[in-house]
Amino acid sequence: MNGSELTKLPRHLAIIMDGNGRWAEQRMLKRIVGHQRGVETVRMVVEQASALGIGYLTLFAFSSENWSRPKVEVRALMSLLRKYIRMELVRMMKNNIRFNVIGNRADLPAEVNRILDDALGQTSQNTGMVLTLALSYGGRQEIVRAAAKIAQDLKAGNLGSDEITETLFNQYLDTSDLPDPDLLIRTSGEMRISNFLLWQLAYTELYFTDINWPDLTINSLHAALADYQARERRFGKTSAQISQRS
Ligand code: FPP
Repeated sequence: MNGSELTKLPRHLAIIMDGNGRWAEQRMLKRIVGHQRGVETVRMVVEQASALGIGYLTLFAFSSENWSRPKVEVRALMSLLRKYIRMELVRMMKNNIRFNVIGNRADLPAEVNRILDDALGQTSQNTGMVLTLALSYGGRQEIVRAAAKIAQDLKAGNLGSDEITETLFNQYLDTSDLPDPDLLIRTSGEMRISNFLLWQLAYTELYFTDINWPDLTINSLHAALADYQARERRFGKTSAQISQRS
């Protein structure tokens, strides 16, 4: 990508990394091999996004619904996650990446939480790209958690019902310190949101590709970014209003 194109990059890129299982099954391999290859793509995308100057990268790594997968696959994913964080921490520090997690961490194994806390702590002062992993994450669950916290604050008298606005609601979400995504990429040909960032995706540009996550290349990532750059974001306004910047 050249210099002028860099100015129109998404500030926040969110990705549903789909198709690891199918990638493996098409090659008569175990599903976990697809996840292992998927980790390689995660590395490439993190490195690229950070090098291009994208401010926020959010990856859907494990959904609330993924807990119902076969135990052996859940265990393997948790183990991959532990290995990934341990191995990537050095690179995160080198690239000034601040690590972040959203989702219901209470459901994660203690050992995973310990490693997450370590990475969160060590990278907390970094000032480069914010890398957020969505773990045990579901958009509806996040909204319900936010509503429950608001109800508690109302009951405790810390909040009045007339104070409940979009801005306030946003502050109760796991993503309170992140801007809304500008671009969502989903791989593997599925055209669904699958309970990812339901509130935050309201005005996000959506990009779907048939490529399975392990097969995503630097070129296919750049193609998604180029497609985004060609779009006109109107946020409910008319095209004329946008061109007048009104
Ligand atoms: C979807 O593929 C992917 C997941 C459920 C998990 C994504 C996980 C990784 C890329 C590896 C671990 C992540 C990190 C950050 C270390 P799928 O299994 O749903 O594929 P399918 O739809 O073809 O079955």
